[in-house]
Amino acid sequence: MVQASAPGKCILFGEHAVVYGQPAVAVAIDQRMSVSLALNDDWRIDGMSFHPQRHPHVEALRQRLWDGGPPLSIKITGEIPAASGLGSSAALSVAASAALRCARGRQMKGDDWAEGWTAARPNMVYDGPWQVDKGDSLEFGAKSVDEDECAILTHAVEAYAQGGRASPMDSSTCAHGGCIVLSDKVEENLNWLYSRKLNDVTWEVHAVNLANIDDVWLVIGSTGIHAPTSEQVAKVASLLEKQPEKMREIETIGIVSRRGIAALMEGDMESVGRAMSENHLLLRSIGVSCPELETLITAAAPTSLGVKLTGAGGGGCMIALTRNPKLTSEAIELAGGRTLISKLAATGMKVDEDEDSPLWNPFE
Ligand code: PMV
Repeated sequence: MVQASAPGKCILFGEHAVVYGQPAVAVAIDQRMSVSLALNDDWRIDGMSFHPQRHPHVEALRQRLWDGGPPLSIKITGEIPAASGLGSSAALSVAASAALRCARGRQMKGDDWAEGWTAARPNMVYDGPWQVDKGDSLEFGAKSVDEDECAILTHAVEAYAQGGRASPMDSSTCAHGGCIVLSDKVEENLNWLYSRKLNDVTWEVHAVNLANIDDVWLVIGSTGIHAPTSEQVAKVASLLEKQPEKMREIETIGIVSRRGIAALMEGDMESVGRAMSENHLLLRSIGVSCPELETLITAAAPTSLGVKLTGAGGGGCMIALTRNPKLTSEAIELAGGRTLISKLAATGMKVDEDEDSPLWNPFE
């Protein structure tokens, strides 16, 4: 068996404003998705027959990493609720791409990759594998797996599953873990990782080191209401068309996000919390909160450093930054929300089991 896992994510700052070029900040959460693979007589997913149309992410990865390979039994487990803005599909895709890569290994030419996906080849990444040559050796197991490759593949399959549009926020955060900042330009003082380009949009992806942070938790509260991201994004677009002056709010979210990033880097969690609450007021004034989110936010506020909706809004989840996760979680649950508790900036993609690797060598 080969098994890999990846964390979910939540957005700390900058949702919606990122669509207009402002920076957005996401952190990986403790809740993860795991994918395990074993050779089998026919294709199975969680013990049932595999129907590609029911699992578009897995199918898109299968085409890219396992084309012509032997049938597998795939098992998916996880603690991230689906369709709640917590990156469950990206976490699943990162874990599945890591497990598939681990299960087939990688052809090497000397010390270099002979195949795979890499940000070093920007034009190739969404079209197909970068196949230089037949390699001269096979690297397999955990050491054949690469975070950047999993992030690229996940971005590509998220776009495929969502009709061509996806930002690299979820794919990068779930692959690399920690804290990821997306912007339309390279941000000074941050660790720039790579550019991503899809259709006509370019994003600069950065990592932020949150080593100084301790003794603080995120409590994630779900309203249980499913509000599709595309509808919320369209709602903001139509508001900006009718009231162009609301662009001030979008720009102010950018300023607050940058202040939040600086506070995160200093480990000043009181300031991080204040910036989160300010960010929420701005999100409310562009119309993406809702009464259910406001109820949970009001319930969490007295025991928190900061509170805001996270993700697209209109339902979905809120987050509270708190030193008393138990108290905050109880308050949110009493107000009718379901909660998850996480530290900030969890570990990214991991191979949990690689003893049987490789399960298939496509070059043999
Ligand atoms: O709820 P999520 O994780 O899909 O976040 C949506 C974030 C938006 O800024 C609202 C949309 C986007 O594409 O960035």
